[in-house]
Amino acid sequence: MTAIGGFHEPSQKNGALGVHSIGEFVLAVPAPEKAADFYGAFGLEVSDSANQISLATAEGYRWGRVIGGPRKRMHHLSFHCFEEDLPRFKAHLEGQGIGLLTPAPGFDSNGLWLIDPDGLLIEIRVGPKTSPDSKAFPQGFDAEAAARCAPYRRLAGRVRPRRLSHVLRFTPDVERMIGFYSRALGLRLSDRSGSTIAFMHAIHGSDHHVLAFAHSEAPGLHHLSWDVPTLEAVGLGAMAMADKGFRIGWGLGRHVLGSNYFHYVRDPWGSFSEYSFNIDYIPARTEWEPLDHPGEDSLYLWGPDMPPEFVINAEAAQD
Ligand SMILES: [Fe+2]
Repeated sequence: MTAIGGFHEPSQKNGALGVHSIGEFVLAVPAPEKAADFYGAFGLEVSDSANQISLATAEGYRWGRVIGGPRKRMHHLSFHCFEEDLPRFKAHLEGQGIGLLTPAPGFDSNGLWLIDPDGLLIEIRVGPKTSPDSKAFPQGFDAEAAARCAPYRRLAGRVRPRRLSHVLRFTPDVERMIGFYSRALGLRLSDRSGSTIAFMHAIHGSDHHVLAFAHSEAPGLHHLSWDVPTLEAVGLGAMAMADKGFRIGWGLGRHVLGSNYFHYVRDPWGSFSEYSFNIDYIPARTEWEPLDHPGEDSLYLWGPDMPPEFVINAEAAQD
């Protein structure tokens, strides 16, 4: 994670304007206490105060909050920008005729609040660059000769995600979301498969996608993706979740678009959290050409058959 505040050297040609990271998600669910069980088992640090459950990684950064609500939905999604870009964003959004809102009650901030075309509340605020500044090349496998390389399972330790990598949302109109997040927030298309799925990155250097969209009959959350440092952590995380009763999911496999190794675990509300390892990286100032990939080549390189529940939009099913 990059330090915050102060002036940043321009990382884009022509001073292009764009958020640099996802800062935080806030979920509303009918039974927030289940979030503590699920995300605690997943490897996050869970704390409960002021009627909300906070979800952090080991070094203390808070990636999300879970609050009570009548039905499961994303309450809002916060994006981070550089300090010098916040007034530019205000002028930019107003120039596009995008209405700015007062902060959501209970979420005081000096950020900019707006609504996306699917009705999701968005905040743009000054905050730390949570997206990496460079590709984190994986460590090599333990491969020493004359040694026992694998530990006992009981000594493997708890898997702890390092950071939130991306959020994938269902939408009735993928094209409209690509257009909105390009124009309003300055995200850029990384790859897509027709009008079925699209992946977008941030222009100041980020994972292949910080935000992605999959077509569905209604808006909703498909998954939150959490970066882990090794392929082994993907497997150990999945096994630890299964041991705690969270057995439904999909993995181990490897995606094509983004290239990450994955294992998804279904959460108590029918969406997923993903253990992700070694996702592609798009540096700042990269002329990345988005491609439109055939559907059969867009999902996974290898892995078990995708289970039918993986494409169910649980939020649409609530209606
Ligand atoms: Fe993902």
